[in-house]
Amino acid sequence: GKVGVLFGGRSAEHDISIMSGTGVLAALRAKGVDAHPFDPAERSIAELAAEKFDRVFIALHGRYGEDGSLQGVLEQLNIPYTGSGVMASAVAMDKIFTKRIWQTHGLSTPKYAVLTPETILREVPDELGLPLILKPPHEGSTIGITKVKGYSEMKEAYALAAQFDDVVLAEEFVEGRELTIAILGRGKDAHALPIIEIVAPDGNYDYQNKYFTDDTQYLCPAPLDEELTARIQQMSVEAYRSIDCEGWARVDVLLRKSDNQPFLLEINTSPGMTGHSLVPMAAKATGMSYEDLCVEILKSARL
Ligand code: DAL
Ligand code: MG
Repeated sequence: GKVGVLFGGRSAEHDISIMSGTGVLAALRAKGVDAHPFDPAERSIAELAAEKFDRVFIALHGRYGEDGSLQGVLEQLNIPYTGSGVMASAVAMDKIFTKRIWQTHGLSTPKYAVLTPETILREVPDELGLPLILKPPHEGSTIGITKVKGYSEMKEAYALAAQFDDVVLAEEFVEGRELTIAILGRGKDAHALPIIEIVAPDGNYDYQNKYFTDDTQYLCPAPLDEELTARIQQMSVEAYRSIDCEGWARVDVLLRKSDNQPFLLEINTSPGMTGHSLVPMAAKATGMSYEDLCVEILKSARL
């Protein structure tokens, strides 16, 4: 049938989505899929309906694409789509709600506080300590994030994050190794791919080092012993299931250096599929090509 690859969109991650969508489109076509691009930044819902896609691959990141709103439109139009449903997409887009769910499942995630324009002027809870991380809870790709080293820097860091969100997430800084775990499947079939460890220049895996430099090193499978690897993969699958994610996602984890305790940071329900992206890298380590991965994800599309 006719497949739509949805990309672009209106979020701050628009440019990244174009890179993901371009890659996915080419891969599906190389596999003989009748795939067509559709850019939700430029075209209306009426046009989406008129395309009569049999299913769509969502290669959108961030708001209006990864956050459940588009998934709701596709439900209304009766078009099967890749990835998580409305609720899981909406929860996963919000780092604060995600943490609340993980906490109720006994899954470890860094301590946090929610800041608003009123609370920012008071002290953040002492238990978060310093440095701490300020981030907009609905963004991706490290956009709007600051590592705050002293309280005098709070106002500026808050203002940056508040450009993207009404509330700001303050999170305990965990000195740790950066890991990411791709998950495929749904329910009982959900399983983790090999863990990737990210070693960024100066420990700074920011927007630039994510997509545009070649200075970031990726170790896959991550050099961790078997027991720890299994524990982190299991935890990531539980993190995925606890939010009812489907199809695919990527869980970002920090492994605390002092005691090897893993902390869940967030889950991405429409992860990057660029040439620098991590899910394709993990798939490759299992012998699955980028093209095969795209077909596999497309096959899992449902309503
Ligand atoms: N938000 C980016 C696209 C990612 O998680 O890969
Ligand atoms: Mg993210």
